[in-house]
Amino acid sequence: MGDPSRDDVRSRLLSWYGANRRDLPWRRSRDPYRILVAEYLLQRTRIASGTPYYERFLERFPTVRDLAAAPFDDVLTVWEGLGFYGRARNLHVAAQAVVERHHGMIPQSYHDLMALPGIGPYTAGAVASIAFGIPVPAVDGNVIRVIARLFRIRENVTSGAVRRRITEIAGKLVSPEQPGAFNQALMELGATVCTPSAPACIRCPLERLCLARAAGEERTLPISSRPRSPRAVSVVFALVTDNRRVLVVRRPRGQLLGGLWALPGGERSGRSETADLKSSIRTQAGIEVRVGPRWSRVNRTFSHRKWSGSIYRCSPLGRPKGTESVRWILREEALRLPLVPFHREAIQALAGLESFGSADNIQISQ
Ligand code: ADE
Repeated sequence: MGDPSRDDVRSRLLSWYGANRRDLPWRRSRDPYRILVAEYLLQRTRIASGTPYYERFLERFPTVRDLAAAPFDDVLTVWEGLGFYGRARNLHVAAQAVVERHHGMIPQSYHDLMALPGIGPYTAGAVASIAFGIPVPAVDGNVIRVIARLFRIRENVTSGAVRRRITEIAGKLVSPEQPGAFNQALMELGATVCTPSAPACIRCPLERLCLARAAGEERTLPISSRPRSPRAVSVVFALVTDNRRVLVVRRPRGQLLGGLWALPGGERSGRSETADLKSSIRTQAGIEVRVGPRWSRVNRTFSHRKWSGSIYRCSPLGRPKGTESVRWILREEALRLPLVPFHREAIQALAGLESFGSADNIQISQ
């Protein structure tokens, strides 16, 4: 069986997409800004999880100028809970460049899109093809899987050379007349039919062209060397409080949950929980604390890490000094910042417990 013919792939895929495309909010608009937002937001995110964020995001930042002018913390607040926070920063800096360099108009060529800060080949390809009808590929994880199976690519798809080959194939396949529909059809097929472990080949418009299917390898391809299970790491965090204030620190960019405000602490270096906690608070906030009782346990799984450990209550020895990345603030103010979601829960639970116990808030029924 030879390689699938380009015309066959195009026509089958486009007619399948015409009949099966999901009605998604960003498909109801040709506004390039809305398409740009969707393509950032949907990277490594399922449609069902991303859609409510997309709608909230556009309500809060209806135009690229609104987004560019907003403080970064406002952007992160809307993004909180969605994960991969570097995307929020990238989208924000891209919006600022659109306003500064392009008078607030999303640039209309692949080359100019690629020149924006914080944008990569996937997003540039998706926006160029979907918003502007430019025939360039948009290769995300779903597309890699579909093409690796269709062309029976039995090499590791995490390697740069294999990715380049897949991008080249995708570039030749893309329909010159309907590039946006074609790229979205490939993504849609990967998301709904050509799924990672149980592909529904009998529903696939490309089944008869698929070389992996013909060889009985549809479940073994693509080959990927990435470890599948997240690494287990111990963590410890501190709820450093006095009556009304709580200590929060900004997590460094590039780290897990980078850019969000958080309780001080983090991944452990292997001594006791208490020693690790004191040392990280000293480094992050420059203060000593008295470590109190355990407040709660932590068990959180992210894409590459599985955190387990504890949050301790602590009291500060001396008054913490605020800086760019350290705040000693009223709890209700902390709750207005973009926070690590399970740290928000801890601060809320503490506030709830204390208001429940305080005489001011006891309701007496009459
Ligand atoms: N994932 C990322 N972008 C998408 C799009 N435009 N349609 C469907 N899935 C997507």
